[in-house]
Amino acid sequence: MLPYAEPYRIKMIEPMIPSERSQREQWIGDARYNLFKLKSQQVFIDLLTDSGTGAMSQEQWSAMMSGDESYAGSRSFEAMKETVSELTGYPHVLPTHQGRAAENVLFSVLVKQGDVVPGNAHFDTTKGHIEFRKAKAVDCTVDEAHDTSAYHPFKGNLDMKKLENVFQTHGKDRIPLIMVTLTCNSIGGQPVSLENLKAVRELADRYGATVIFDAARFAENAYFIKTREEGYADRSIREIVLEMFSCADGMTMSSKKDGIVNIGGFIALNSESLYREASMFNILFEGYLTYGGMTGRDMAALAQGLKEATSWNYLESRVRQVAYLGEQLKSKGIPVQEPFGGHAIFVDAKRFLPDVPVEEYVAQTLALELYLESGVRAVEIGTLLADRDPETRENRHPSLEMVRLTIPRRVYTRNHMDYVAAALGNIFDRRSLITSGYRITYEPPLMRHFTVELEKVGGNVQ
Ligand code: F0G
Repeated sequence: MLPYAEPYRIKMIEPMIPSERSQREQWIGDARYNLFKLKSQQVFIDLLTDSGTGAMSQEQWSAMMSGDESYAGSRSFEAMKETVSELTGYPHVLPTHQGRAAENVLFSVLVKQGDVVPGNAHFDTTKGHIEFRKAKAVDCTVDEAHDTSAYHPFKGNLDMKKLENVFQTHGKDRIPLIMVTLTCNSIGGQPVSLENLKAVRELADRYGATVIFDAARFAENAYFIKTREEGYADRSIREIVLEMFSCADGMTMSSKKDGIVNIGGFIALNSESLYREASMFNILFEGYLTYGGMTGRDMAALAQGLKEATSWNYLESRVRQVAYLGEQLKSKGIPVQEPFGGHAIFVDAKRFLPDVPVEEYVAQTLALELYLESGVRAVEIGTLLADRDPETRENRHPSLEMVRLTIPRRVYTRNHMDYVAAALGNIFDRRSLITSGYRITYEPPLMRHFTVELEKVGGNVQ
């Protein structure tokens, strides 16, 4: 068998700037040990996020040139809507400027104070929009998701007993929707099986509840169903995608992921009445119904990007590149979430740096070490991101403290993956010398990880 190779070649390049450790020490200190505050020129390989960082194809760039910028009735909107409806089966589509905007619009209709929204490890903006409305997000993910060494082919699955329990405890009237995130980002880009989606649908039907997908990485989810779930090996990605969406009443989308565009989002719905209600908020917050915060050219690029993201050749090289990095790390003994996720490798920081207390932000400590070692920027998915409990204001320590190495789509090569693995390998070799982390000197009331400021607790041997 031949190794996989990217089904594209590089036509335009963007230089990356190497740096010295002494420069990085200065820069990260100036950034108050917050990786979001670095300038991009201070970063060599940027694995902060796969959101809006992908490379567009020549077909997408061509589509941009023919974008229709009409305020109302844009033909680029029609093209985008047609593609979305064809892929999902949902007839009603509202464009938004990104995923969290779609959440804001839809939740403005559905979620009110005192409500409960069960789901599988809601993404932080989703949780933020729920808590902002004084409602509660309840995580019903299967237990295996919280153990990086436990194998489960679909760690994004909802535990049906936990979900049923939420309905029995709170009653259907306080549950405006079930939110299922595909793939489940927060616990490692882990997929949800079709069997599980069907079970969620069945439960929702029993209670008369609404199911919404947070579908940012729906195509990667379909890849895992095709390659891991019994009975789907011979089905096309498009068929699987359609079957997935048939289990929900609608979706919110961050097009910056599986839309392979730099900005954009949308809501797609079955129900005309829900669409009409959401339309009002869309106009208020985002823009008129046929642009909603997007330019015509961005919608044109998105229509094309969605087609490319659901092609087998693209998806295979995408997910296998991520797995390649995972294999490199594993071969060095580095603890990572397994099986590997679709968009990122998640390093288990508590197992990597067992001597750093969780109170000193162990995952952030590891992400900072990686930056200092190599100029690679990753992101903390741990206590900083989990933020404080809105009622008690205590730190929420999630079961997993992870460093996410997020791979942008069609951007980096195998050599870049080797560089990242070697850098982490160096830190792993001297891990016993790293015994302390950081403390917070400033934080805002909500979504703190973007702007938090830190200082060293001290004692680390570099
Ligand atoms: N849902 C999921 C599962 C996400 O991963 C994101 C964004 C959003 C919603 C919000 O979308 O950024 O377009 O407003 N995730 C990015 C990340 C930021 O780095 O994982 P957005």
